[in-house]
Amino acid sequence: MDDIIRQLEEKRAAARLGGGKRRIDAQHGKGKLSARERIELLLDPDSFEEYDMFVEHRSVDFGMAEQTIPGDGVVTGHGTINGRLVFVFSQDFTVFGGSLSEAHAVKICKIMDQAMKVGAPIIGLNDSGGARIQEGVASLAGYADVFQRNVMASGVVPQVSVIMGPCAGGAVYSPAMTDFIFMVQDTSYMFVTGPDVVKTVTHETVTHEELGGALTHTTRSGVADASFENDIEALFATRRLFDFLPVCNRAQPPLRPTRDPITRQEPALDRLVPANPQKPYDMKALIEKVVDESDFFELQPTYARNIIIGLGRIDGAPIGIVANQPLVLAGCLDIDSSRKAARFVRFCDCFNIPIVTFVDVPGFLPGTAQEFGGIIKHGSKLLFAFAEATVPKVTVITRKAYGGAYDVMSSKHLRGDVNYAWPSAEIAVMGPKGAVEIIFRGDLDDPAKIEARTDEYRRKFANPFVAGHRGFIDDVIMPHTTRYRIARSLLMLRHKTLENPWKKHDNIPL
Ligand code: HXC
Repeated sequence: MDDIIRQLEEKRAAARLGGGKRRIDAQHGKGKLSARERIELLLDPDSFEEYDMFVEHRSVDFGMAEQTIPGDGVVTGHGTINGRLVFVFSQDFTVFGGSLSEAHAVKICKIMDQAMKVGAPIIGLNDSGGARIQEGVASLAGYADVFQRNVMASGVVPQVSVIMGPCAGGAVYSPAMTDFIFMVQDTSYMFVTGPDVVKTVTHETVTHEELGGALTHTTRSGVADASFENDIEALFATRRLFDFLPVCNRAQPPLRPTRDPITRQEPALDRLVPANPQKPYDMKALIEKVVDESDFFELQPTYARNIIIGLGRIDGAPIGIVANQPLVLAGCLDIDSSRKAARFVRFCDCFNIPIVTFVDVPGFLPGTAQEFGGIIKHGSKLLFAFAEATVPKVTVITRKAYGGAYDVMSSKHLRGDVNYAWPSAEIAVMGPKGAVEIIFRGDLDDPAKIEARTDEYRRKFANPFVAGHRGFIDDVIMPHTTRYRIARSLLMLRHKTLENPWKKHDNIPL
């Protein structure tokens, strides 16, 4: 028996060493942690239950029969984050560059299947040279098996991808289909075709970093939701994100007790909106004053900054926040911001997270770039997302809510449950100046008349009361009471039930 136990220990030790000390040192030399070190940081101490440590590939070509490493380049299993169950896979770059073989894929699929069965999130730590070149189509099949599970799991259990090394070729599509992508600065990249192929096909010279580094994907493409300085920060942020999420679509998001009373008033908010309607202000100041302990987890903070999305809590319960940002493009909706917010709204709706929307939007961004880029389709994504969402929806209009953008931003008409306005709200088809220039075009050469008409329009429409008269606004609230009013509304809505008609699935404008 002793011999058998010793053998087991030796086998485990060999598996834990992955591609060997030299390759682990090389990994550390690049500022990267090993696959197992990452799991240790991600999960609660001693909570990891590993599966398939002894799995090996079955390929024989190109000398592979002589090169087998137990575990085959991916560490899989389950554990807990702050006591809640999660399934994890962590690709081991020290084993064939973390490349995906048939056996490697089967390991990932196994934990995805289990996660779906028991209703627990899946976190993938990606660090891989892509398809195992020596295996050919078997490896491509393995990718497709993972993709299929990503799709089946979408909207059932939360899926998070952390990109901690290379992620190239078709391999990028698995993270792309998960709910959130985090990247590590300088050591991770994602692209469909690398710089060499780009050079051959389009004659562009571009570095790995420029083409698919963290900066590119958090500022230009919007593929990634956030980036972090190193592995440790990325993993801690993943734990923080996880604490906002329910384990599956049948569960409620976790409550976190707070000492921050819902009755907290914020007199500074009464002065947040400047007297001059053309002057911007920082919507984040409002968000931070409304959520518990100013704890706001912003997603995509450097992409499409004219809209803010992220997670916070009120009275201990997670909420998703969508807010126009007047500091950037005056808070206009455009293609990028519509896509960014639409996916987030749908995420919240999948996972029972109420949505709080702060509105200060002068409209959709005009211009040929927007029209040629398909703002009609992209803008409708956000409209569609808010309209189909059945989770509790609370909206606060702080200032402008003009035109179609008023309708889009979780208005009463899109089944907003509670819609508030601040006294500074202006809810109208457009701003006073633009409106007067259209309806009194004949008076344009008479500045006094135009001024008088503009004043009249402002008096009549640049306020919350026209909407209030019709019940499109449930109440005009004092800004300093905003947290309390939202908290009360969310409490009232806690057991809201609303169902959309049966359908196979909808046909959101893609
Ligand atoms: C097998 C691989 C591998 C792969 C790397 N390795 N990629 N083995 N299949 N895809 C091995 C290397 O042979 C090496 O083994 C070890 O991993 C580390 O690789 P290095 O090249 O030394 O590391 P580095 O210089 O950091 O470069 C990393 C890399 C590079 C940029 C990822 O290895 C690379 O370009 N690899 C090929 C990437 C690729 O073309 N993959 C296929 C993409 S197509 P030793 O024994 O020396 O340590 C694809 C399709 C997916 O993935 C389709 C899904 C539908």
